[in-house]
Amino acid sequence: MSGHGETFTMTARASGPLSGTAEVPGDKSISHRAMILGALAVGETRVTGLLEGQDVLDTARAMQAFGATVTRHGPGAWSVLGVGTGGFAEPADVIDCGNSGTGVRLIIGAMATTPITATFTGDASLRKRPMGRVTDPLALFGARAYGRAGGRLPMTVVGAADPVPVRYRLPVASAQVKSAVLLAGLNAPGETVLIEPEATRDHSERMLAGFGARLSVEDGPEGRIIALAGQPELVAQSVAVPRDPSSAAFPVAAALIVPGSDVLVPGVSQNPTRNGLVATLVEMGADIALENPREEGGEPVADLRVRASALRGIEVPPARAASMIDEYPVLSAIAALAEGPTVMRGVKELRVKESDRIDAMARGLEANGVRIEEGEDWFIVHGCGPDGVPGGATVASRLDHRIAMAFLVLGLAAKAPVTVDDGSPIATSFPVFEPLMTGLGADIARGAA
Ligand code: S3P
Repeated sequence: MSGHGETFTMTARASGPLSGTAEVPGDKSISHRAMILGALAVGETRVTGLLEGQDVLDTARAMQAFGATVTRHGPGAWSVLGVGTGGFAEPADVIDCGNSGTGVRLIIGAMATTPITATFTGDASLRKRPMGRVTDPLALFGARAYGRAGGRLPMTVVGAADPVPVRYRLPVASAQVKSAVLLAGLNAPGETVLIEPEATRDHSERMLAGFGARLSVEDGPEGRIIALAGQPELVAQSVAVPRDPSSAAFPVAAALIVPGSDVLVPGVSQNPTRNGLVATLVEMGADIALENPREEGGEPVADLRVRASALRGIEVPPARAASMIDEYPVLSAIAALAEGPTVMRGVKELRVKESDRIDAMARGLEANGVRIEEGEDWFIVHGCGPDGVPGGATVASRLDHRIAMAFLVLGLAAKAPVTVDDGSPIATSFPVFEPLMTGLGADIARGAA
C-alpha cells in the first residue's frame, strides 16, 4: 500500500523518439466498481482486465472484510462471490483503504444503509481528504459518521437500521459522491433520486444497470436526474474492464512532447464523461488519430495513434473539467512545453485530490524553470515553447501517483533531468508504468539525477 512500502526516487531524462504500442492497464474507476457491485450481487461475478493497482487491491480486501469471497485466478482475472444487497457483514477490524478516495467513499456508501458499524482509515494523503461530501448525503438515509475534525479519516460509520430513500442534488461535480449515494440507495426502500448539475463519469450507472438494478437517467434543465429503485436483486455478471484513459494519458503525453515519437495506445475509452483530455490536446495542435472505434466491456473505445506535435497553449473550457479531472497534472506538464499560456479554470476540485494538485504542479513546474500563475480555482502554465523547459529539479510527489508520473513525463522532454522524490505511489494506479514507458524508449530509471 502506498505509504506502507519502500519509497524510492525516480529520474526521467531527455529521450530519443518513442515508438511502439502502449497497452495500459484496466480502468481504476471500473475496477473498484466491479469489486463492490460483485460483492453486493448474488452469485459469482467474473472480472477480466482488472487493474491490479494497490487502490483496487485495497478495495478487494475490504470486500472480503464485509463478507464477500474474492479470488484471483490469474493476471487481471478475478472472481467475487457476493453476499447480495444488504448482505454486508460487520468487519472484524478497521478497513484500510490506503491511498484511495474512490475506494473509501464508495465503500462507505455501500455499507451506509446496512445496520453494521465499520471504521475506515487510509494513508497520510487519504487522511487529509474531506469525507463530509459523502457522509452529509448518507446522513439523509439515516447513517451516522464519527470522524476527525473536518470530516477526516479515521472515521466510524454506523449504517442506518431503517434507511429511507433520498432525493439529493450534488453540490460538487463528483462521481464519487454520486456513486456513494447510489450504492446507499440500493438498500433503501423506494426510489433514490440524484440530481447532477454537471455530468461526471457514469460508470456506476452503467454497471448498476448491467447488474440488474432499475435505474433511469434523464437530462433536464436542472442537469441529469438519476432515479434508482431500491432493494433490487443484483445478479452476478461477467465484467471485462476496459483500459484506463487516465493511465493512457501518460504515454499519450510523452509521445506528443518527445520529438519524432509515434506511439499506438490501444483500447482507450471514448466515454464522453472521461475523454476531455483528447479534445483538449487536439485543440492544442496534437496529432492524435482515433482508429478502430468499437465497444469493449460496455464502454466505447478506440485506438489512439499519437505522433509528436508542436503544441500551443489554449484556454481549457471549464465545462470540460469533470471529463478530464484526473488529467490536469499531465496536461500541465504538456502545457509547459507548448507555446504560450494554457489557462485552466473551474478546477477547484484539484485541491482535494490525492494532493493539492494545483500547488503540487505549480511548485514543481516553478522549480523546473516554468512560469505559472494560480488562484483558488484556476491555474495558468506559461509554456516555454521552442526555448524548452530547463528542468533539473527534484519534485515532491506528495503521495500522489499522478504528480509523480506527470513530472517523469516532463523530464523526457526537458533540457536537464527531472527527479521525483518518491515513485512508489505510482503503484496505486499504474503498476507497470516504468516498464511500459521504458519499453517505448523513455529514459526513466530509479535513483536521483
Ligand atoms: C473517480 C472520480 C473522480 C476521480 C477519481 C476517480 C471515480 O473523483 O478524480 O480519480 O472513480 O468515481 P471525484 O468524483 O471526487 O471528482
